[in-house]
Amino acid sequence: MNITTPILPIDLRSDTVTQPSPQMRQAMHEAIVGDDVYDEDPTVKLLQERVSQLTGKESALFVTSGTMGNLIALLVQCQRGDQAIVGNKSHIALYEQSGASALGGIRLRTIANLRNGCLELDTLKSAITSDDIHFSRTKLICLENTWNGIPIDLSYIKSVKQIAQDHGLKMHLDGARIFNAALALNEPIDKLVHDFDTVQLCFSKGLAAPIGSIICGSKQFIHEAKRMRKVLGGGMRQVGIIASAALVSLDTMIDRLVDDHKNAKLLADGLAQIEHITVEPCLNRTNMVFFNINHPHISTKEFILQLCQNNILVLAEKQFGIRAVVHYGIEASDINQVITQVKIVIRNLKQNKTLAN
Ligand SMILES: Cc1ncc(COP(=O)(O)O)c(C=O)c1O
Repeated sequence: MNITTPILPIDLRSDTVTQPSPQMRQAMHEAIVGDDVYDEDPTVKLLQERVSQLTGKESALFVTSGTMGNLIALLVQCQRGDQAIVGNKSHIALYEQSGASALGGIRLRTIANLRNGCLELDTLKSAITSDDIHFSRTKLICLENTWNGIPIDLSYIKSVKQIAQDHGLKMHLDGARIFNAALALNEPIDKLVHDFDTVQLCFSKGLAAPIGSIICGSKQFIHEAKRMRKVLGGGMRQVGIIASAALVSLDTMIDRLVDDHKNAKLLADGLAQIEHITVEPCLNRTNMVFFNINHPHISTKEFILQLCQNNILVLAEKQFGIRAVVHYGIEASDINQVITQVKIVIRNLKQNKTLAN
């Protein structure tokens, strides 16, 4: 059967929509593999060693997805009835089916994410339960970096660490986009994750690999994590096939994130010039751009639909309006095309409304 290459739209819904690079496809073709459930896949082992070094953690474990990585970290570090504190607008709280509660009986105690992604420190402290017979026991604090494209800086992480230490709590990082955070903050990865007991990072977001995440922590944590991965059905066999693409993503995709950040800024600046569009600059620090359409007769829904009909895909997002994410495969010329097209769509929609009135 012949599969013809479809004409791809300019797809800015997420950085998860990337196509694997030619180098990734080549690496997958040539990967040396073994049964990873038996610990015999050299490519997976290499990837895990590379990421242990990169993060400065003792050990690492390749997992299917960010969701599985976060879930395993919570299930290993909390028992049934324990409490993990998460932001109310974090991925763990909103988009992972509350898996830790559903499968592990863990209470996800949500506290408000401020507009900069941080959890207010006094609120965080007051959410920590004492070891009282009436309460679930707090075990873990989870942060996300970047959060909706906003990098969370080291001084804030240190303040949370202090609180965690004072209360004997562990810290987990959902670092799906930690490479974007590291670039924006100009900090090395190991420094950014140092204060966390466990960290999950994704190869399939800004790093453009087709599949896979990794969790890192102490040897003891990874030992338990491996058992948990198996019971969740995540023990994979010749998985070096996909780990090889993740290795290529480490080698070739980190340095180019600077282009994504530049292009995101180009997009944010261009959109900000357009009448009836508002852009929130404080949200546009890495590869994500959030904007709103402000015209009394043009709804977000019809605007997005019109863009889609012109081969440009963006996402309606509950918190911040319309989301456009820049990634591998999106060039500055695409950004210019998007800006032009947004102008045309608004003009046409305005004209249609005038005719209809
Ligand atoms: C911040 C964050 N964490 C975790 C995940 C989950 O990753 P996955 O889709 O690989 O399960 C995502 C996915 O978009 C995410 O944005």
